Amino acid sequence: MTVSSAPGKVYLFGEHAVVYGEPAVPCAIERRATVSVEPRADDHIRVTARDLSLDGFTVEYSGSTGDHPDVNVPTPLVEAAMGYIDAAVEQALDAASRENVGFDITVESEIPLGAGLGSSAAVVVAGIDAATRALGVELDPREIAERAYRAEYEVQDGQASRADTFCSAMGGAVRVEADDCRTLDAPNLPFVVGFDGGAGDTGALVAGVRDLRERYEFAADTVETVGDIVRNGEQLLADADPEEPPTDELLAELGNLMDFNHGLLEALGVSSRSLDNMVWAARMAGAHGAKLTGAGGGGCIVALDPTPETETGLRFTPGCEDVFRAELATEGVRVEAGHAGDTPTEGTAE
Ligand code: PMV
Repeated sequence: MTVSSAPGKVYLFGEHAVVYGEPAVPCAIERRATVSVEPRADDHIRVTARDLSLDGFTVEYSGSTGDHPDVNVPTPLVEAAMGYIDAAVEQALDAASRENVGFDITVESEIPLGAGLGSSAAVVVAGIDAATRALGVELDPREIAERAYRAEYEVQDGQASRADTFCSAMGGAVRVEADDCRTLDAPNLPFVVGFDGGAGDTGALVAGVRDLRERYEFAADTVETVGDIVRNGEQLLADADPEEPPTDELLAELGNLMDFNHGLLEALGVSSRSLDNMVWAARMAGAHGAKLTGAGGGGCIVALDPTPETETGLRFTPGCEDVFRAELATEGVRVEAGHAGDTPTEGTAE
């Protein structure tokens, strides 16, 4: 059995605008999806998904994932387990030049689904790594990122940027502008994440912004202004010492930009009452800045605060279901156990 994991992420800046060629800066966080893969004798794919907040389920299928199985779990989890896994398996088979290989796959995720923390990207990235290793092929993280992007692109009907998948594969802070993807040297920022227990419909939210942008020049200008915020923010990161904890001055400036970014996302119609409530609760508690992260509509906000105040404030905010501190995940995709041929990686030194 091969086991790989990959981190989720928060957007420091730039979601939605990245879809239209503006830069974005996502940062990987220490909340991971772990995918275990065991090749089967037949060509069936059997997926078992376990999520922190939901009961697990098992589903077995072969061929197309168009027919959803009759299981009593929320659709996003079924889609995550089937659509994304199926696309990841397809990429792995293509990378290994193989056909008709079946797998038993287990997905365990610490990342809430559809909540703006890049759960699907982490599952696809870890899935491609584990499945290719199970077939005896080792891909470098950049190729995994590229294949994971293709998988997401297919599942999301072309509504995906490279931001989530590149960040999850590489780890750390990254900068993505169309197909130009780079890693950044950034200090470990004191992220606090608030989660309203819900999820947004990424496709519908992206379509909503596209529509506004086509109808109103000022909406198109708003998207470009998000790009300006990102360029300002990445300059601040470039000027900082990545080895040192961030200074209060840096946090204050980044926080102002996050507040501005949230305001523009709100104007573009992708925030929600619960996200706005959490953003305001974080600011009132003393966070340097706060914004929604990811597609919006519901899910998570990210705030900057090195003190415990924002966590405490959010914990007492109606509608905030969970709050946690998120360390920057410096490692992207990584092997957790096993390699091709089912030989354990540890304890085999001769
Ligand atoms: O909510 P998430 O983690 O799927 O992020 C979506 C980010 C968007 O910019 C809205 C879309 C994308 O593919 O970049």
